[in-house]
Amino acid sequence: MIRAAAAILVAFAGAAHAQAGDPEQGESEFRKCRSCHMIQDDEGRDIVRGGRVGPNLWNIVGSPVAHQDDYRYGDGLLAVREAMPDFVWTEEELVAYVTDPTAWVREKTGDDRARSKMTFKLNRNQADLAAFLAANSPDAP
Ligand code: HEC
Repeated sequence: MIRAAAAILVAFAGAAHAQAGDPEQGESEFRKCRSCHMIQDDEGRDIVRGGRVGPNLWNIVGSPVAHQDDYRYGDGLLAVREAMPDFVWTEEELVAYVTDPTAWVREKTGDDRARSKMTFKLNRNQADLAAFLAANSPDAP
């Protein structure tokens, strides 16, 4: 009896985690992003060393789309920024974006030929990853 109840509790805790996103799981998930993205704070300290194919993802939650001044974004993300000047990244929007960046850009712009320069798609553990990025976003609301 008690063991069964414990098992149910564990299952519940697991489900709750999956929904809210676990930043520690997300940290290891970020290995998939590192080839293209670094996380480097405003003082130039590396939180995660990574490539420069994509923009630095420090402080992404709470920031507008295309938030790094020194990065050359593609037309798709720039069009989203123009269409939605008040938009800021949330964990939910990050989950949607990393699942299918080009589909996300098309939905936001209403232009079915728009695309994101990011061709990588993450099809599992997106919420964990978003929680990890939120943990590295000190200015997030
Ligand atoms: C193969 C390279 C590559 C990989 C792997 C990759 N990205 Fe990207 N990412 C890009 C590029 C390139 C852009 C710029 C997109 C554009 O300008 O259209 C981008 C843009 C982004 C943006 C928008 C940033 C902003 O300033 O608005 C986010 C968020 C993002 N990536 C998150 C991730 C996450 C999280 C992962 C890991 C799951 C990941 N990316 C993996 C190349 C990559």
